Amino acid sequence: MSELYEKYFKKPSIKDARKRKTRTTETIHVKTPLNLKAIGHDKKYKLMTYGCQGNEADSETMRGIIERLGFTETDAETSADIIILNTCAIRENAENRIFGELGRLKQYKRTNPDLILGVAGCMPQEEKVVDKLLKSYPYVDLIFGTHNIHKLPEYLETALYGKERVVEVFSDEGQIVENLPRIRDHLHKAYVNIMYGCDEFCTYCIVPYTRGKERSRDPKHIIDEVNTLAEAGYQEVTLLGQNVNSYGRDFTDKAYRFADLLEDLNKTSLPRLRFTTSHPKDFDEATVKVLAKGGNLMPHIHLPVQSGSDSVLKKMNRKYTKASYLELVKTIYKYIPEASITTDIIVGFPGETEADFEQTLDLVRQSRFEGAFTFVFSAREGTPAAKYADHTDIKTKKARLQTLNQIINDGYLLGNQRFEGKVVNVLVDGVSKNNPEILAGYTEHNKLVNFKGDKTLIGKIVPVQIDEAKTWFLKGTYHESR
Ligand code: SAH
Ligand code: SF4
Ligand code: F3S
Repeated sequence: MSELYEKYFKKPSIKDARKRKTRTTETIHVKTPLNLKAIGHDKKYKLMTYGCQGNEADSETMRGIIERLGFTETDAETSADIIILNTCAIRENAENRIFGELGRLKQYKRTNPDLILGVAGCMPQEEKVVDKLLKSYPYVDLIFGTHNIHKLPEYLETALYGKERVVEVFSDEGQIVENLPRIRDHLHKAYVNIMYGCDEFCTYCIVPYTRGKERSRDPKHIIDEVNTLAEAGYQEVTLLGQNVNSYGRDFTDKAYRFADLLEDLNKTSLPRLRFTTSHPKDFDEATVKVLAKGGNLMPHIHLPVQSGSDSVLKKMNRKYTKASYLELVKTIYKYIPEASITTDIIVGFPGETEADFEQTLDLVRQSRFEGAFTFVFSAREGTPAAKYADHTDIKTKKARLQTLNQIINDGYLLGNQRFEGKVVNVLVDGVSKNNPEILAGYTEHNKLVNFKGDKTLIGKIVPVQIDEAKTWFLKGTYHESR
C-alpha cells in the first residue's frame, strides 16, 4: 500500500454497478464558467486516450476542465506536471497495454518526483484493476472513473498541492452532467453524446459495469448542441451512445425516440450527421424510414452483429436471431439501396463450434458488409461469459479470425469498387499521413479518399472523382468544375 496519505478513497464494485433499474436519472447543470482556481497556470499536462468514441468524448471534457484550471498541453512526457491515461477495459489486450504504459511512465516519476500520474476512464471502474494499481503501481497518484470527471478540479488540487493520493470511483451513479467545458479534437467534426451507459448486459461485455445505467440526454440539450456546432461551422456530428436505438426508452415524461431525434436533427443546418452504435434488436423501421430521407443523414450504418449463430447470439444475450438480423439488413437496403453497412464480430465466444462459425460466415456473405471490426473473445472478469466453459484453443480461434477477415476484406474492396468512376462528396480532414501533398477525407458512405488538392480545402465538403478503389481507401481527383 502507498506511503502517501489517501484523501479520497472510494473503490469500485462490480456488484454495485449491476444494480440500476430502480434509480431515476438526475440531470446536473454545472454553472459556466466554472469558478475554478488557476492551479495549473505554470504547469503542463499530457492526456492520453485509449478507448472508443465515448472515451474520446470524455477526454475532450477532461481537456476542457484541465485547461480551465490554467494548465497548458504538452506532448513531451519529460516536461509534463500531470499525465493522465484515459483507459479502455473492453478486452484484455487493451488493459495490458495500459499496464505496459504505466511501467514505461514510471521513469518520469524518477526524474520529476512531483509528476502526477493519473489513471481515468473504464479500467478504474473494475475492482480488480484498482486493487492491482494500489498493490503494484504505488506511483500512480490519481485514480478516477467514468462518473466523476466533473470532480477533476478537486482531485487535481488535492494530488498536486495536498500531495495526497486520490482514489475515487463511483459505481452506482445515474447522473447526466450538462454544461461541462470541452475542448474538441477536431475543428470541423464533433461527437455529441445522446445517451450514457448501457443496460443491455451482453454477457461478454464490461461496458454496462464501467459506464453504468443507460440514461438519455434531453432532446433539447442535444438539438441545441448540434445547432451551436453547425453555427460554429462544424460540418459533421457523430451522435454517440452504446445503443442509440434505445434512445429515449428511459424517458418517463415523453414518448420521444431515436427516430424522432433524427427527424429533428435532419431539419438543422448541419451538413452531415452520423451515429454509433446501433443495436439490431432495437433498430426499428421508423428509424430506417427517417434515414431514407437523406439530407444530412449519412447512408452508412454500423450495425454490430457479433455472431451469425442463433445459439451463440442467445448465449451472448443479444436478443435477436440470424434471420431477424438479415431481415433488418434487407429492410435497410429496401429503403436505402445505396447504404453502406459495417459491423462488429466476435469469434471464439465460449462454446462456439465450427458450425456456429460457419453461420457467421454465411451471415457475412449475405449481408454485403463493407467493413467490420473483428475480435477474438476476451474474458472480462465480472461478466457472465467469463465463467462459461470454453474448450476451443486460441490457435483455432485465431484461425477463425483470419478466415473471417479475408471475407470481410473482400467486402471492403467490393464496397469501394462501386464508387469507381463516380463523383462523390468528401469532407476533407487534413493531409494524408504518408504524403503531405495528398489530402484525406471521408465520403458520405464513410469511405476514406486520398486526392491531390490544396490545404485550403481542409474542413470543406468537396466533389472528388473516384479513379481507383483499393481495399482500404479510394484514390480520386478533385473535381473543381462541379
Ligand atoms: N455498444 C456497442 C459497442 C461496444 S464495444 C455494441 O453493442 O455493439 C465494441 C465492440 O467490442 C463490440 O461490438 C464487440 O464486438 C467487441 N467486444 C466487446 N466485448 C468484447 C469481449 N469481451 N471480447 C471481445 N470483443 C468484445
Ligand atoms: Fe456492450 Fe452489448 Fe452494451 Fe454494446 S450493447 S455496450 S456490446 S453490453
Ligand atoms: Fe469505450 Fe472501452 Fe469503455 S470501448 S466504453 S472505453 S471499455
